[in-house]
Amino acid sequence: MALARRARRKAYAPYSKFRVGAALRAGSGKVFTGCNVENASYGLTICAERNAVFQAVAAGERKFTAIAIAGNSKIPLRPCGACLQVLAEFAPNIRIVLANGGTREELTLRDLLPHRFQLRR
Ligand code: THU
Repeated sequence: MALARRARRKAYAPYSKFRVGAALRAGSGKVFTGCNVENASYGLTICAERNAVFQAVAAGERKFTAIAIAGNSKIPLRPCGACLQVLAEFAPNIRIVLANGGTREELTLRDLLPHRFQLRR
């Protein structure tokens, strides 16, 4: 969570002013971080969570055990559906730790996305 908060400092969110940081623990033990990066063409914005997953995959990681996410809202941010689907591609059982201010919540991906899209089942 400390790394997620540190990554949040790098967020580029001039439009929403909603800053998010994520820290993803890979199977190797390494932690990869990401922040949200917005764009003047709003729909091109990438969330912190997907940024972290893509950084990790580009570094050769495919297994993930936990992700910590720090938003700047009063209550813990819950990841959006797009990020849950991307996490589910690699780690359907990943542990998700959410925090904001003093509150902390721990969930699994299965709690948040019980039925992901799959090409074949
Ligand atoms: N955002 C994230 O980074 N992660 C989420 O799970 C939800 C939303 C970002 C996208 C956008 O830059 C800002 O938060 C407001 O939607």
